[in-house]
Amino acid sequence: MFYPEELVEEVRLKNDIVDVVSGYVRLQKKGANHWGCCPFHNEKTPSFAVNGAKQMYHCFGCGAGGNVYTFVMNYENYTFPEAVKMLAQRAGVTLPEAEYDEEQKKRQNHRQRLLDVNKEAATFFYYQLRSPQGQVGYRYLADRALSDETMRRFGLGYAGKSGAGLIQHLKQKGFEDKLIIEAGLGSYNERTGLLSQFWNRVMYPIQDIRGKVIGFGGRVMGEGEPKYLNSPETPIFDKRRNLYGLNFARTARSGNIILCEGYMDVIAMHQAGFTQAVASLGTAFTAEQAVLLGRYTDNVLLAYDSDGAGVKAALRGIGILRDAGLSGKIINMQPYKDPDEFIKNLGREAFQERIDQAENSFFFEIRMLERDYDLKDPESKTLFYKEIAKKLCGFSVDVERENYLEAIAEKYHIGFENLRRLVGSYAMQTGLDKPPERPKSGLQPKNTPQESNRRSQRLLLTWIVDDPAIYPKIARYVGPEDFTEELYRQVAGRLFQDLEAGQYQPAAIISMFQDQEEQRRVAELFNTNLPQLNTRQEREKALHDILYAVKKNSYEQLTMRLGSDVNALGRVVSGKKALEELAKTHISLE
Ligand code: GTP
Ligand code: MN
Repeated sequence: MFYPEELVEEVRLKNDIVDVVSGYVRLQKKGANHWGCCPFHNEKTPSFAVNGAKQMYHCFGCGAGGNVYTFVMNYENYTFPEAVKMLAQRAGVTLPEAEYDEEQKKRQNHRQRLLDVNKEAATFFYYQLRSPQGQVGYRYLADRALSDETMRRFGLGYAGKSGAGLIQHLKQKGFEDKLIIEAGLGSYNERTGLLSQFWNRVMYPIQDIRGKVIGFGGRVMGEGEPKYLNSPETPIFDKRRNLYGLNFARTARSGNIILCEGYMDVIAMHQAGFTQAVASLGTAFTAEQAVLLGRYTDNVLLAYDSDGAGVKAALRGIGILRDAGLSGKIINMQPYKDPDEFIKNLGREAFQERIDQAENSFFFEIRMLERDYDLKDPESKTLFYKEIAKKLCGFSVDVERENYLEAIAEKYHIGFENLRRLVGSYAMQTGLDKPPERPKSGLQPKNTPQESNRRSQRLLLTWIVDDPAIYPKIARYVGPEDFTEELYRQVAGRLFQDLEAGQYQPAAIISMFQDQEEQRRVAELFNTNLPQLNTRQEREKALHDILYAVKKNSYEQLTMRLGSDVNALGRVVSGKKALEELAKTHISLE
C-alpha cells in the first residue's frame, strides 16, 4: 500500500533524523554534522554524518545514505511502507486504514485473531513457567544452563501436566473452539472435548521478524516422543518462510548469520552473545528461507550437528544457499554434537574461534566427498578426481573456477593442468554453468569521463542544497534537462521546482524514490564532498567551473543525439550560445 505523498512528508518532518538515528548510533556534533561510526559497515573512526539541516545522513566511508526513511529501511530491513508505519507510530501520526475489499478484510481479521490467540497462549505458558506447577519446567531449562534473562528474552514457557488450564483460559478470553483448533493449540475429542495440544512440555514461542508469535515448539522434558511438538502450518505460520531467532538476528550486525538446526542451539548461542543465530522450524532449510536470509547478509555460517544427518543437511543447505547467491561456510562442532553442547563445554571464545575458522563450503563438500573414495585405489581415486572436476564445472565465473581449481589441485596433490583438462573434458560433455546475474553493487567505476560528468552534476546539486541562496543566481543558466543521468534529472527537476516555489526540503526528494539503492544515490548526490575554498573569488571560480562542466556535458550529449532527434537541433544551437555566454559570464556570490 502506498501512502499519499503529503502524509509521507508529514511523518518525515515529525521524525527528526538526528533524534531517530541517535536511538541507534552514538552521535557527536561537529560542525554542521553529527558524526558517528557507520552502522552499515565496520569502522572504528566515525565517517557517518547526519545532517540536521538537510535531514539526511551519508557515510563517507561506504557511501550509505538517505533520509530518515532510508535509515530505518536499512537498519531494520523494513520495506518503505513498513518504515512509514514505524515512524508514524513513533511520531503519533495516524495512518489511514488500507482500502481493502470485504474478502481481504475478512482474511486480515482472521489472521489477526490467530495472532491474538497465539499471543494469549504464549502469555499463559510464560506465567505457568513461573508458577509453582511450572517449577519442573523452569528447573529443566535452568539445568540446561539458561539464565532467567534468556528465558524471558525468548518468552519461554511451560504447558502444564493437564492441558485443561490453557483451553479454559483461552475460552474465558473469548476465543472460539474453532480458532483454538485451527491455531494448533487444541484438538477435539468426542470423549474428552477440547484438549490442549501441548502438555507437560517447555514451550518455545516462534516469532516472526516483528516479534509476533506465529506458532510454538514444545519440548518434552527428558525422554519422550515426540521430542519436539510443533504447531501446524496456519495462515500465519508458514514454516518455509520464517526462521527461529531472526527477529533478534536481523539487527545483530555481525557481518554474518549463523544457521543452526535446533531451537536450543539458537537460544544457547544468543545467550553466549552470538545473537546472529537462527534455525529453521523443525523442517529442512528451504530456498525461501535462503532468500529471506539474503535480505540481511551474504554470508551464512552453518552450525549443523556434527553427526551424519547433520552433514547431510549441511550439504543440502550449501546448495540452497549457493542457488540464492549466498556464500556458505561450515562451522566445525567436533567433538560436540551441536552448538548448544559446544558452548556449554568450551564456552564462547572457543566458539568464536570456530567461527573464524569456518570452512569454505566447497572445501567442505570435497572433504565429505573424499570419504566415499579409497584414495589408495587408483580406480577409486580417478573417480574421485572426476567427481571434483564435475563439481568445479558448477562455478560459472571463470576466475572463481580457476581459483578453486588451483586450491583443490594443491590440496589434493593433483597436477593443476591435469585437473584443468579433466574439468575441460567434463565441460565439453555437459557445458559450463551460465554466469548468474550479479546484483547491483552500488559501486561506480571511478575516473571514467562519464563518472567525472556525473561528479560535476553531483557537486552542483550538493552546492545548491548546501546553499540554496545561490539558486536564483544560476537558475538562468541551468535546468533539469542539463542533468544527463536519469535519476539526477528527476532530482534536479523536483529540487528546482521546490526552490522556485520558495521551498527547501531536500530530504523529501529522497522519499520520491522507494528503491533503497535509489534513495542512497540521491543522498549521495546531496552529500558530495565540496572543495574547501576560502576566498569568495575561489568559490566563484569553482562554481563557474562546475556549472560550465555540467552545461558542456549536456551540450555534448545533445550534439551526439542530434542524428536521431530532429527537435534537438534548435536546442543545440541555443545550447551552444548559452555555453559561450556562460564562458564569459562572471557569477557573483556576493
Ligand atoms: P535438544 O535435545 O533439546 O537439545 O534439541 P535440539 O535443539 O538439539 O534439537 P535436535 O538436534 O534434536 O533437532 C533439531 C530440531 O529439529 C529441533 O529444534 C526441532 O525443531 C526439530 N525436531 C527435533 N525432534 C523433533 C521431533 O520429534 N518432531 C519434530 N516435528 N521436530 C523435531
Ligand atoms: Mn541439542
